[in-house]
Amino acid sequence: MEEKNYILVTGGAGFIGSHTVVELIKNGKTPVIIDDFRNSSREMLNGIEKIVGSELIFHNIDVSNKNDLAAIFTKYSINGIIHFAADKAVGESVNNPLKYYKNNIGGLINCLECALEFNVENFLFSSSCTVYGDPEGSTTVTEESPQQDANSPYGATKQMGERILSDVVKSGVNLKVLNLRYFNPIGAHESGLIGELPIGRPNNLLPYVTQTAIGILEKLTVFGNTYNTPDGTCIRDYIHVVDLADAHVSGLDWLEKQSNSTFEIVNVGTGRGTSVLEIIHTFEKVSGKQLNWEFGVKRIGDVEQIFADVTKAKNLIHWDAKKSMEDAVRDAWNWEQKLRND
Ligand code: UD1
Repeated sequence: MEEKNYILVTGGAGFIGSHTVVELIKNGKTPVIIDDFRNSSREMLNGIEKIVGSELIFHNIDVSNKNDLAAIFTKYSINGIIHFAADKAVGESVNNPLKYYKNNIGGLINCLECALEFNVENFLFSSSCTVYGDPEGSTTVTEESPQQDANSPYGATKQMGERILSDVVKSGVNLKVLNLRYFNPIGAHESGLIGELPIGRPNNLLPYVTQTAIGILEKLTVFGNTYNTPDGTCIRDYIHVVDLADAHVSGLDWLEKQSNSTFEIVNVGTGRGTSVLEIIHTFEKVSGKQLNWEFGVKRIGDVEQIFADVTKAKNLIHWDAKKSMEDAVRDAWNWEQKLRND
């Protein structure tokens, strides 16, 4: 086995994973990437290599295959795990729940079993603000805010994943867990070499906006304009994916400094709420293009407004978001244009 401290990044070719790999390398870490490209592409790895100027360590592995996963731990001396690999489409999870339980829960259990078998103490988990459900009455959520029953199997896998991690730590094993609850990641790397690659019709707002602007989609529908918000459209906490990637580097540094087993939850957002119309206006401003959009009916299951209280992120892992909404929208648009031109 090679004597080096490697960080295993599952789903490292994905949207958040790829940006995190870049930030890890910039901060002197050596990621070992695994991905099965079910929702990403080898092109993302080429993009990362161009940005960092070095060759990546990569293995095409499905985290739900325990034997393949364990072989990675035999080959490399892994010091920490960042577990991104999971399915994430809310609608698909309703139609195909077993896919979600098998991959998201099965994959997590395999990673945890390997962590315990190979004495890997540092574990970072990708969770989501979806675990809060609809924070009726208050719009800012802290890590202590009450949760509601997830309204999709996808959301249930994030709630269950957090519970599994917490139970494993409570059982007395040697494991330090940082559970990051992401708000709405948007944007792309400023180089335009990596970004979001939605397969098929995008569900999320920003890829829908940029694909409409470039002519792949005809028109954006804004889901509802009668919400109880200043302009009637929903409010979210959109965070630049590079800021989000940085939160993993800070989180990993914090984990490595802890001497005892721990389970901590941290919200990763900007602390600012932005409406759908504000996003459209920002897009039009930074791109100089007029977007084709219309108001439509509310989307079932949409939360009116939610954004993060980010006090704990600042105090515990000493991280906060640096980039603006304009940066994020500009980078997303730059990425979309490069993607279609190539
Ligand atoms: C969605 C998921 C959430 C998941 C997150 C991952 C749902 C209900 N929630 O969050 O569980 O963790 O993605 O990124 O699917 N919008 C439009 N028109 C569109 C698309 C979106 O108006 O074509 C609006 C939505 O109503 C919402 C906002 O844009 O107000 C953001 O939507 P989206 O990007 O889908 O994110 P969430 O719904 O917040």
